[in-house]
Amino acid sequence: MTDLTVRIGRLTLKNPVLTASGTFGYGPEYADYVDLNRLGGLITKTITLEPRGGNPMPRIAEMPAGMLNSIGLANVGVERYLAEKLPLLEKYETAVIANLAGSTVEEYARVVMKVQKHPRVDGIEVNVSCPNVRKGGLAFGTDPDVLCELVRSVRSETDKTVIVKLSPNVTDIRPVAMAAASGGADALSLINTVMGMGIDIRTRKPLISRITAGLSGPAIKPIAMAKVYEAAQAVDLPLIGIGGIMNGEDAVEFLMAGASAVQVGTLNFVDPAGCLKVLEGIETFCREQGIAKVSDLVGAMDHG
Ligand code: SIN
Repeated sequence: MTDLTVRIGRLTLKNPVLTASGTFGYGPEYADYVDLNRLGGLITKTITLEPRGGNPMPRIAEMPAGMLNSIGLANVGVERYLAEKLPLLEKYETAVIANLAGSTVEEYARVVMKVQKHPRVDGIEVNVSCPNVRKGGLAFGTDPDVLCELVRSVRSETDKTVIVKLSPNVTDIRPVAMAAASGGADALSLINTVMGMGIDIRTRKPLISRITAGLSGPAIKPIAMAKVYEAAQAVDLPLIGIGGIMNGEDAVEFLMAGASAVQVGTLNFVDPAGCLKVLEGIETFCREQGIAKVSDLVGAMDHG
């Protein structure tokens, strides 16, 4: 039997498969399809200090190899998250990671301060990469100095694992990864969506109300792999690979590029039980290849 455990910052996960924020609700919505106890971890939808209604419709469009979204961080706000959403996760034995965002450094810090006290929260994922909001989001994830200050401020609020979710919408991911590391991040997750757009040529209207949006799914997997590989060369932190993972073999590719774990996102919309199939695919690969520990695959690409 392969040892599937992986270490992400201060956390040990039972396996390397997590669900990506914004693709799996607050978790229990998927419990009819997925035994949540089997997941390495569950990352809840981004929460902010105040509730948000999100962007006007249409805010999702299917693409040939993926999906465009511009949800605009719609969420119930931190108080309802703590009172109504987190208690529903108490009975599950999987790591719960709260993803959060803000429009100012102070707002991020206040959400962290509130959320990190909850015993069901095992870690924090800081969203500095949403391309679909006017204030905050991407603005924090593209400037290394701003990012470093933000991560420092988040770090000072919690002893729990801090994961910083990076954007691919930068010229070079390495300075941003290094800034998150020097701010005190325990781990990085990458990538969030790639900026994209589409037009319905008959109506001449953009497919998404806000015109530009975030592209996810298999279309972005090679981009994500390259960013993970580059970040792995730049920082000595565990990385969580995200981007178009549709099966176990895709996940193994990310591990070999340098990720210690993966997040499954767009697949959850195609097959609500897809994340467990990814896990089973990793297990099958390890069994067939005689891999004793899944962590032995991390960065195992043969450079030739
Ligand atoms: C959104 O809410 O628009 C997507 C979230 C994200 O890209 O981080």
